[in-house]
Amino acid sequence: MPKNQAQEQQEEVEEFNHLEKDLEAAAVEEAVEEKSGIVKKYEFIEDISGVGPATAQKLRELGYRTVEALAMATMREIEAVGVSDKKASQIIQAARSAIGVSFIRADQLLKQRQNVARLSTGSKALDKLVAGGLETQSITEFYGEYGSGKSQVCHQLCVNVQLSLEKGGLNGGVLYIDTENTFRLERIVQMANHLGLNPEEVVKNIIYAEAYTSDHQMFLLENSDEVIKANNIKLIIVDSLMAHFRSEYIGREMLASRQQKLNKHMHKLNALARAFNAVAVVTNQVMAKPDQFFSDPLVPVGGNIVGHTSQTRIALRRASKGEVRIARLVSSPYLPDGEEVLKVTANGIEDMTEEEKAAKKR
Ligand SMILES: Nc1ncnc2c1ncn2[C@@H]1O[C@H](COP(=O)(O)OP(=O)(O)OP(=O)(O)O)[C@@H](O)[C@H]1O
Ligand SMILES: [Mg+2]
Repeated sequence: MPKNQAQEQQEEVEEFNHLEKDLEAAAVEEAVEEKSGIVKKYEFIEDISGVGPATAQKLRELGYRTVEALAMATMREIEAVGVSDKKASQIIQAARSAIGVSFIRADQLLKQRQNVARLSTGSKALDKLVAGGLETQSITEFYGEYGSGKSQVCHQLCVNVQLSLEKGGLNGGVLYIDTENTFRLERIVQMANHLGLNPEEVVKNIIYAEAYTSDHQMFLLENSDEVIKANNIKLIIVDSLMAHFRSEYIGREMLASRQQKLNKHMHKLNALARAFNAVAVVTNQVMAKPDQFFSDPLVPVGGNIVGHTSQTRIALRRASKGEVRIARLVSSPYLPDGEEVLKVTANGIEDMTEEEKAAKKR
């Protein structure tokens, strides 16, 4: 075995041991908390008092198969199984206490924030724009014209999320909801090879579903909690968010019902991202708004609902005919707006080299 390969393997083993130790420590901490009655642990939804076999069955049919998903549900959603509002509230409370979401002190909020992990996009420049990578527990939206690189970024994230934390990944898998049939395994293989990963292993960690209609798209997400948990999914992608909604809900009369459904869909995505500490990414199309005198005439579709539920919005556009793309952070809860350049190449999402940047300026 060549020397550096052996060394790499040794490093991997050490990394693994380190991770194991962390996990052990976390398990001990949890056991102590459990004994002291701070948090109750429920493994299955039936373990929650008030959830009998019949209620559990109905909850499953509605897509609540894990305690995590129940904790993020609204009363109205749970009442739909035919329980009283009081009972619905009790079930949600019990699920919340089980996974430790309730009122907390602000200093503990800091601890919760510390659980937010970051996923690298493959471009250091783009990562810098979002303070180190895409955040877990919230939704990031990429919008732009066709060919601007939205789906390419999604593909790259599918590979990157599988990397170790040190390498910018989250050691996790992907749930990919594809609405336009633009997911390409060949691209995943190319990107995996470029990063020195085994493509056969990489594709095993991508759970793929094609959504045929907007209802189907919603259904897939509503029924994904168990899949997410079982596959240690740390990245949930909806590419593209609006394609079906736009083509099915036409005209002003349908706008209100479209927005209502969209709100539900985004709420669900956000809830899953929070419950499973995962990154959620949606892509979005743009439309021209010629009356925007001072800002970008290309605005993302989906209106205020999408605008308010995507915590981070990144606009992508082509710089010229070549590989170069410009990413602009348009909205973030705490970061300043800004722009960075990156490239979409056969290898995936990359940074421009210093020479390329210099050549562009000339
Ligand atoms: N194998 C590859 N090598 C180099 N560049 C590629 C490769 N595959 C795709 N690209 C680049 O990515 C572009 C397509 O980008 P992408 O599919 O991400 O667009 P999009 O923003 O998702 O558009 P749409 O709105 O149509 O979905 C191509 O035009 C090309 O520039
Ligand atoms: Mg696309």
